[in-house]
Amino acid sequence: MCGIFAYLNYLTPKSRQQVLDLLLQGLKRLEYRGYDSTGVAIDGASAGDDILLVRRIGKVKVLEDAIGELCRGEAFNQPVDIHIGIAHTRWATHGVPSEVNSHPQRSDVENSFVVVHNGIITNYKDVKTLLEKRGYVFESETDTEVIAKLVHHLWQTHPGYTFGELVEQAIQQLEGAFAIAFKSKHFPGECVASRRGSPLLVGIKAKTKLATDHVPILYAKAHRPHGQPFPVLQAGSDGSAEFQPLEHKEVEYFFASDASAVIEHTNRVIYLEDDDVAAVKRDGTLSIHRLNKCTDDPHIREIITLKMEIQQIMKGNYDYFMLKEIFEQPESVVNTMRGRVRFDTQTIVLGGIKEYIPEIKRCRRLMLIACGTSYHSAVATRQLLEELTELPVMVELASDFLDRNTPIFRDDVCFFISQSGETADTLMSLRYCKQRGALIVGVTNTVGSSICRESNCGVHINAGPEIGVASTKAYTSQFISLVMFALVMSEDRLSLQQRRQEIIAGLSQLDEHIRSVLKLNSQVQELAKELYQHKSLLIMGRGFNFATCLEGALKVKELTYMHSEGILAGELKHGPLALVDDEMPVLMIVTRDPVYTKCMNALQQVTSRKGRPILICEENDTETMSFSTRSLQIPRTVDCLQGILTVIPLQLLSYHIAVLRGCDVDCPRNLAKSVTVE
Ligand code: G6P
Repeated sequence: MCGIFAYLNYLTPKSRQQVLDLLLQGLKRLEYRGYDSTGVAIDGASAGDDILLVRRIGKVKVLEDAIGELCRGEAFNQPVDIHIGIAHTRWATHGVPSEVNSHPQRSDVENSFVVVHNGIITNYKDVKTLLEKRGYVFESETDTEVIAKLVHHLWQTHPGYTFGELVEQAIQQLEGAFAIAFKSKHFPGECVASRRGSPLLVGIKAKTKLATDHVPILYAKAHRPHGQPFPVLQAGSDGSAEFQPLEHKEVEYFFASDASAVIEHTNRVIYLEDDDVAAVKRDGTLSIHRLNKCTDDPHIREIITLKMEIQQIMKGNYDYFMLKEIFEQPESVVNTMRGRVRFDTQTIVLGGIKEYIPEIKRCRRLMLIACGTSYHSAVATRQLLEELTELPVMVELASDFLDRNTPIFRDDVCFFISQSGETADTLMSLRYCKQRGALIVGVTNTVGSSICRESNCGVHINAGPEIGVASTKAYTSQFISLVMFALVMSEDRLSLQQRRQEIIAGLSQLDEHIRSVLKLNSQVQELAKELYQHKSLLIMGRGFNFATCLEGALKVKELTYMHSEGILAGELKHGPLALVDDEMPVLMIVTRDPVYTKCMNALQQVTSRKGRPILICEENDTETMSFSTRSLQIPRTVDCLQGILTVIPLQLLSYHIAVLRGCDVDCPRNLAKSVTVE
């Protein structure tokens, strides 16, 4: 999905070359989000020049090469005291990937106002018609171009407005979702950014300690005389002056769609809320404006300190982020449980939902709503949730849930599971359920994300940043978070104590078990060599392992572009068996759980059709292994946690097949990490 990165240096001299390097580096950090074109805007090389726009189709590297060609010469090496550069990675929604459709989009041929945008403006056609009537000529097919031209139009009609006020006015006319950052030749050294429905944060790097840990919000007067400049009212009781970032005022600001682009520069950030307009003025001050006061608004935006480390978003010795993230799972699962599972007392505390547990226990049903891999974590834990909560549990794909206008009641508890916390379909479903009075529980990996903020309560999965587009460690951590929830719900059920103890014991050994599964890596690599030239791969299993089949097949599809299907072994005889012959690659998961006998039936059905299944089974299970020449042995654990161990060989398998097929592992074609459009 699109990525925004903007950099403003205030009294911290930087040459344009250095600014460009910073912008390119920021874009590289956002590459994992998935994109098809890129662009930057900086000041032209000499005073009075128009803003310089460079946009290219393809990877950041292509842009970097173009910049290397175009931005040469002494002027680019001269330090500039105050400068703002904006940059973007675009994932096409309106108009094909092309230079003219790439961002920054511009207001006119002089590049008076340039903007980068994430999201979709749903009423762009209306705004465009209006602007065309005023003489504006559009050059791109994007919805974004209307934003730049609208601000330009407002600037012409309201000459007294500040840059922030222009954007404030413009966003009132826009419908849909956006995160935007502006640069203008009429407001040199100033940056204005805003968001609605798409994430945006401001990173602040100052030479000396910041004078404050928050920024007050400034509200526009509701009724102001027509045509007058926008007076602002100071929020808060003390009427203190605008936010002064620093005594010496040497400060750098970073605007980005997510923290991974700014963390190497600063860990001090403000997450903007919907309709906030953040403006850095020519004097280096940052203020946040809102047009309307909302009742529950705290009147400030806090500057928070991110705990993320730069190493966490670096590849280290691994070739790909995905491989690194697969191998991080022994630690990430422990991080998910840290401070929550007390193995000595066999108790579990989920601080984020603790107070809501009595209400949840009284609910009519649990709904788990998510997309993609996150949805599979719901499928994986549904059976355990049913068993330990004794409540009806519905598992829903967010897009389908919305299509159906599903009935939701006040006594429903709805879980929204999302690694990014920004997936549009999941977020829309959340708002739909919230409106109908259900209790909203967020399960996300991203602090400050929209789903986090809009939930009544939640569980942060603490898996650490996940950069590879294909989700791996977030899946296992989501899985564990839902298991922990099931354990909390059953804590006072006498009849379930033995079962709980067994699961808690399984959780305590999970990191060691994952380490043993990871030792299968070279064996899996060999298997990949056997499979990578095939057209298809069927993955079969049932019970607690069905979710692994779905998730494994999804990993294979998204990474290798090879067809793959996760098949419920119970459904084999109702169709998929027709696909089986001595050529078709089949992988079967057979563990010693309550459905073992049924799985063995399926295995025999496959072998008797000359199928040659590859098995994922438990260590030393010679009886099962006798049905195949190839098997991957995983440690035995409690049935409901087996899915965490069985999915890892499939994560590795999809990775190795992708490498062998020459695919871009971390950024599969046509896919995005964070899908912020419906
Ligand atoms: C995209 C990603 C998937 C992810 C899904 C849901 O499709 O490519 O890996 O599972 O979105 O994302 P979420 O952030 O909500 O978990």
